[in-house]
Amino acid sequence: MPSNIFPSVRMRRLRKTPALRDLVRENSVTMNDLILPIFVEEEIDKSLPISSMPGVDRIPEKKLGEEIKAIAADGVKAVMLFGVSHKKDATGSDSWKEDGLLSRMIKRAKDAAPEMLVIADTCFCEYTDHGHCGVIDGDHVHNDMTLTNLARQAVSSASAGADIIAPSAMMDGQIAALREGLDEAGFSDTSIMAYSSKFASAFYGPFRAAAGCELKGDRKTYQMDPFNGREALRESLMDEAEGADFLMVKPGLPYLDILAKVRESSLLPLVVYQVSGEYAMIKFAAKAGALDEKRVVRETLGAFKRAGADLILSYFARDIARHGF
Ligand code: PBG
Repeated sequence: MPSNIFPSVRMRRLRKTPALRDLVRENSVTMNDLILPIFVEEEIDKSLPISSMPGVDRIPEKKLGEEIKAIAADGVKAVMLFGVSHKKDATGSDSWKEDGLLSRMIKRAKDAAPEMLVIADTCFCEYTDHGHCGVIDGDHVHNDMTLTNLARQAVSSASAGADIIAPSAMMDGQIAALREGLDEAGFSDTSIMAYSSKFASAFYGPFRAAAGCELKGDRKTYQMDPFNGREALRESLMDEAEGADFLMVKPGLPYLDILAKVRESSLLPLVVYQVSGEYAMIKFAAKAGALDEKRVVRETLGAFKRAGADLILSYFARDIARHGF
């Protein structure tokens, strides 16, 4: 009698050959899904290797054009830009200047490869001398003053040619403030990728050295508590209501539950950020001979897709473009 249990059913039937496994695979990752984050430093002549992230360099601003062309030629279709600033001040004002590092990077990248999608990380920690993501008022980051500056930065990035604005400061109301600012300045077609559930994570450790934005203290008054899940949904739904075009979960692997929940609760394109610490763990373990890097990268990106991500920000994106998956 046939039934839906063993021995009528044998799950291994569909795993017999590579072709069969390809046929029944539920998810895939292509270069259409990957965004490469890059670090660009002003006033340096040579690429600077980042010791906490083997294989990732700070790119000199003056070489950004050639580098973007090479990245595009490898097959990467989208980059997220992080500036390493030499002109930090209390508010991070360089980030909204027409001739500031952020605007210059965007222009150089778009000039070099107009077809490359250029996403501007919209935040202040790389441009403030205290390393926080906004304006300091007493002992905390002032939410609403920071909103004003975020809108300035977003408008300046959009006028420099950024395709997507990606606010990562975790200020309340930042999506509404940016949408309004962009619309008023005539950039109603510039989209917003909200870092909507961004956790106060120790996995950002290598990034802070990479981007030169170490800070005293922490970001726990604005980024989310890693122990909270429902709150991440509230953050995401609020960002959607404020006009976000994309939602994001960050970091990735320790937060797959959040990714799956946001996927069920929103129809927006969903992005996951495989952050610097996730990259470093894989790289260092592979260097020590403990893990097979290529297979582990494939498995982690597959897990993001399975959990519901449409797009993945990953420092491995260029390796994948070059060497396949
Ligand atoms: C803030 C920002 C950070 C990262 C991306 N955008 C740092 C932070 O919030 O401390 C971290 C990315 C990573 O770790 O790879 N501008």
